[in-house]
Amino acid sequence: MKRLLSGIKPTGDLTLGNYIGALKHFNEMQKEYETFVFVADLHALTIYNDPKVLHKKIRDLIAVYLACGLDPKYTTLFIQSENVYHANLSWVFECNTYMGEAARMTQFKEKSKNNENVTVGLFTYPMLMASDILLYDADVVPVGIDQKQHVELARNIAERFNNKYGETFKIPEPVIPKTGAKIYDLQDPTKKMSKSDDNNKGCIILLEDPEIARKKIMSAVTDSEMSIKFDPEHKPGVSNLLTIYSSLKNISIQDAEKEFEGSNYGTFKKRVADVVVELLNNLQSKYKEVIEGDTIDKILDESNKKVREIAKSKVEEVFTKVGVGR
Ligand code: AMP
Ligand code: TRP
Repeated sequence: MKRLLSGIKPTGDLTLGNYIGALKHFNEMQKEYETFVFVADLHALTIYNDPKVLHKKIRDLIAVYLACGLDPKYTTLFIQSENVYHANLSWVFECNTYMGEAARMTQFKEKSKNNENVTVGLFTYPMLMASDILLYDADVVPVGIDQKQHVELARNIAERFNNKYGETFKIPEPVIPKTGAKIYDLQDPTKKMSKSDDNNKGCIILLEDPEIARKKIMSAVTDSEMSIKFDPEHKPGVSNLLTIYSSLKNISIQDAEKEFEGSNYGTFKKRVADVVVELLNNLQSKYKEVIEGDTIDKILDESNKKVREIAKSKVEEVFTKVGVGR
C-alpha cells in the first residue's frame, strides 16, 4: 500500500478552507493509502504563540481530525514534537539546501516582506517540512496549492541526497485537490480564506456557531449580475460559493451550475449556507464527543510508538550515510 502523509499547523482557528483544501481529502483517501496525519506543532513556533493557547490548539486539532472522520484504524495520527527525529533530520536537510533555493519560497518572501521580526525558523521551515515528509517515505502528500512549492522542495532535497549519498528517500508527489484547492475569503474573494486573517466576516471557522456561519455566507460578496456561473476571473465571489457547494456536495462545478440555473443569488446563498451549516453541526457534535472523552491520549500513545520506530531507523540510516556518529 502506498503511503500518504500530511499535516496542519495548530495556529489560528481551522477554517472551511482547511476543511475543503485538506481535511476532507485526508478523510477520503485514508482507506486507499497507509495514512499518516500529524499536528505540525513545531512549525507553529516560527512565530510567537501564547504557550497555553498553543497547547490547547494542538489537542483541538487532533479532535477535529477525528471529528472530520479520520479513523485510527486507517490513519496514524500524531503530534510532530513528540517525535524528536523530525528536528534531527531537518538539520541534515538545512545543510543540504542552498540559500538561493530556500530564498525562492514564495511563502517566505510574502511573510518576510515589510516584517522586521522574521525568525530563522521561518526561513528554514520548508526543510523541517521536507523532513516530515521524507522520514516516512511518503508517496503522496495532499496539500493546498500554497504548499505545493514546499513539497517540490522536498522532492529536490530527496533527489539531491540520494545522488550524493546513495538511495535513501522516496520521491514524494504533491496531490492538489481538483476542486477547492483554494477557497477564498467571502468578503474579498481575491484573497485566500485564512485563519490568521482578522476580518472574521469573510472566514468560516469550523468550530464557530453554525448560525454565525450562515450569516457570513448570506452576506458573501457576489457581483451585480444575476448569473450563477463559474468564472473566477470575472465572478470571483459566485465562483467561490460554487466551489464550496460542489465540494461539500461531492458534485462537479458544472452540475452545481446546472442546479442553480435560473436561481437568484438569495436562493443560491441559502443553499450554500445549508450545506455549510450541516457540515459544521456534524463536525461539532463529533468534536465535542472526542474532546470530552479519553480516546485522544490512547490514540496518540499508540501511534507515537509506531512513528518513532519508523523515523528512528530512517535517521540512523541517514546519519550513517553522511558519516556522523560512531
Ligand atoms: P494552514 O492552515 O496554512 O496550516 O494549512 C493547512 C492545510 O490547509 C494546507 O494544506 C493548506 O494548503 C490548506 N488550506 C488552508 N487554507 C486554505 C484555503 N483557503 N483553501 C484551500 N486550502 C487551504
Ligand atoms: N506547512 C504546512 C502548512 O503550513 C503544514 C505542514 C507541515 C505539512 N509539514 C507538512 C503539510 C508535511 C504536508 C506535509 O500548511
